[in-house]
Amino acid sequence: MSGICAGRVVAVTGAGRGLGRAHALAFAAEGARVVVNDLGVGLDGVPGPDSPARGVVDEIRAAGGEAVAHGADIATDAGAASLVATALDAYGRLDTLVNNAGFLRDRMLVNLGEDDWDAVMRVHLKGHFLPLRHAAAHWRAEAKAGRTPVARIVNTSSGAGLLGSVGQGNYSAAKAGIVGLTLVAAAELARYGVQVNAVAPAARTRMTERTFATTMAAPGSGFDAMAPENVSPLVVWLGSAASTGVTGRVFETEGGRITVMEGWRPGPTADKGARWTPAEAGGTTLKLLAEAEPPGAAYGA
Ligand SMILES: NC(=O)c1ccc[n+]([C@@H]2O[C@H](COP(=O)([O-])OP(=O)(O)OC[C@H]3O[C@@H](n4cnc5c(N)ncnc54)[C@H](O)[C@@H]3O)[C@@H](O)[C@H]2O)c1
Repeated sequence: MSGICAGRVVAVTGAGRGLGRAHALAFAAEGARVVVNDLGVGLDGVPGPDSPARGVVDEIRAAGGEAVAHGADIATDAGAASLVATALDAYGRLDTLVNNAGFLRDRMLVNLGEDDWDAVMRVHLKGHFLPLRHAAAHWRAEAKAGRTPVARIVNTSSGAGLLGSVGQGNYSAAKAGIVGLTLVAAAELARYGVQVNAVAPAARTRMTERTFATTMAAPGSGFDAMAPENVSPLVVWLGSAASTGVTGRVFETEGGRITVMEGWRPGPTADKGARWTPAEAGGTTLKLLAEAEPPGAAYGA
């Protein structure tokens, strides 16, 4: 198949449904061979009886593409290692990793149990770190062998991680952590030919079907603005060789909109050149805050 990912091998985690499925189909349509990972868990992360990865592989093959299913838990070391091994065994290479798998355990903070905290940290943070580490180890070996790759990682953050979201303290913390991981990975892995970026998507999937029940498109436009397929073109481009030079960036994307998120950067500053008293620190801070941009409101605040 021709396309901007022709010849590339792409692994997408959590690709049995929702955004991951849309990404896998979009990569295949651009010529990539795809490793479709999905553990097949419920909305809250509890394993279910289905294996949705196989259905997506069938869809890709029916459209004339190439794909292989991988059903392991990417938040385990063995599962993450076998994701990379599956790409190498099936196709002899790995070019792009899309970290996307995840689930929610929403509660207000005062009701948020330790289990709900741990489960969400595990699937999002560890579930990004472990595949990233195994893929990066492969690419470092390739670079050291004189075959520097044109490798790409696309991570999945969320507006909840960038602005905060009421009732999602665990998820917001994990998704903010993914931004930090993205920045470090971009800085560390550039020397091995690896670019690392993150997207903060919004789309109607089983995770958000109540939030985005309507299409939010202009009536009669025929454009379903909340379709997950709208997020995939940016992910495919970031995962392609065409995105050369773009790394360490975070993009919000939904419908027909792409926004470069401009993150933490120094704002108004005062330096006394000596230690403040608490009263001085307070007075100075209030003056600085008056000069600073107000922060965006947390979702649901
Ligand atoms: N839908 C949105 O508007 C939205 C907004 C911001 C961020 N996100 C993020 O996008 C990603 C995809 O979400 P979605 O809306 O498509 O949800 P989804 O529930 O439709 O799909 C997620 C998939 O991940 C799989 N999965 C979960 N844990 C796994 C594990 N340990 N190993 C392998 N697979 C696993 C699930 O089985 C499921 O098929 C998530 O990281 C989510 O947090 C979604």
